[in-house]
Amino acid sequence: MGLRRLFKNYLYKKKFDITSKKNIGERIEKQSILITGANSGIGYELTKKFLRLNNFVFATYNKDSENLKKLSDSNLQICQCDQSKIENIDAIINLIKDKPINIIINNAGVWGGKNQNFNQIDYVNFVSASNINAISILKFAEVVLKYSEKNSLKSILNISSQYVSTENNTSGRDYIYKGTKSMMNSFSKNLSIDLKRSYGVNVISICPGNVRTKMNPGGILDPQNAALNIIDILDNAETLNGKFINLNKDILTW
Ligand SMILES: NC(=O)c1ccc[n+]([C@@H]2O[C@H](COP(=O)([O-])OP(=O)(O)OC[C@H]3O[C@@H](n4cnc5c(N)ncnc54)[C@H](OP(=O)(O)O)[C@@H]3O)[C@@H](O)[C@H]2O)c1
Repeated sequence: MGLRRLFKNYLYKKKFDITSKKNIGERIEKQSILITGANSGIGYELTKKFLRLNNFVFATYNKDSENLKKLSDSNLQICQCDQSKIENIDAIINLIKDKPINIIINNAGVWGGKNQNFNQIDYVNFVSASNINAISILKFAEVVLKYSEKNSLKSILNISSQYVSTENNTSGRDYIYKGTKSMMNSFSKNLSIDLKRSYGVNVISICPGNVRTKMNPGGILDPQNAALNIIDILDNAETLNGKFINLNKDILTW
């Protein structure tokens, strides 16, 4: 890697580095948190951090649960949930029934495969990615509000991406990822109005930045750092309802 690239990456990391900030997440204690796609990447780091902060985590996974099982923590309950079919989300009903869920983090996501440019679109993948990246966030909200302890839900964080910003789009291409995460953003905004009005729930869309994970192996930020920032955002959820923000809480264009 060239010096210029190294320096650029250093500045990018520095921009989102909050490891020296004190008391991150200190107000998030004894909360019940539902995290989707929690066996890897950002979801896994969030799970570990929330457990360390003395919270209860309901973690869903798709294919593998190995990492979650290794945690063997009595404050962790796990559940298989393949979100490519919306009816699969009903699997969490027994897990959460009559229990408090204070926070939902819609983290599970897919890129959508190789074939997503004009004239090459894999429409089967498109429908599946729509369910995973977008439609599932509506279903999770409905299920939690209907089955978990009444009035317990306070915040929903949706892990989106700045890459899908409609206003800043100069690159074209990637219809599946851009289309489905834009749909997530649209639902996020809509829910921030409906759920705030009816249940007092704050709903926020977050871009975690360029994070090194299974989805993005060449990413710059550590998933641990992304998770810390997301927890810091949660600490400030009241003021961020209906916003699309980056890890520094800067407002992004939809
Ligand atoms: N990393 C980045 O730079 C970046 C940038 C912007 C936004 N994001 C967003 O951040 C979120 C977390 O991604 P990550 O970077 O941490 O990558 P990751 O480690 O690949 O996490 C994605 C998670 O989604 C799960 N998932 C995939 N298909 C699923 C399905 N059908 N049903 C339920 N869960 C499913 C995966 O589980 P399996 O592996 O078992 O399928 C995995 O645990 C995603 O929504 C992503 O779009 C990431």
